[in-house]
Amino acid sequence: MKKTLLGAGIAALAFTFLLAGPEPAFATMEMQKEAKAAGIDVKNCKHCHTVAMPKKGTPALNEVGQWLVDQKAAKKADKLDMAWLKEYKPKQ
Ligand code: HEC
Repeated sequence: MKKTLLGAGIAALAFTFLLAGPEPAFATMEMQKEAKAAGIDVKNCKHCHTVAMPKKGTPALNEVGQWLVDQKAAKKADKLDMAWLKEYKPKQ
């Protein structure tokens, strides 16, 4: 009985890792997809980040990325909307 419980526990743990592992990358691919869906010409992560493949914990946002975060605060929105990028005007 005890052995079965332990096995189930390990299986549950492994399952959690499986779910938690790919999730951040999935969320960020969504980001790029959303921007494209909004009609923004996004070629890669560097549109909004200073590195080619940003990781969780170190967003490394560039001017565009930081602008989006500022917009979120200004609009008091609870999540980013990539469609805001249509209003973005680069500093001259
Ligand atoms: C259209 C702009 C845009 C694009 C394109 C984009 N990102 Fe982001 N990303 C952001 C913004 C803005 C944030 C900050 C979100 C926040 O603070 O609410 C962010 C945050 C992140 C984070 C979270 C960092 C943290 O704080 O833990 C990761 C990881 C990330 N991006 C990875 C990627 C990857 C990988 C790609 C390419 C597949 C990508 N992003 C493309 C705008 C973008």
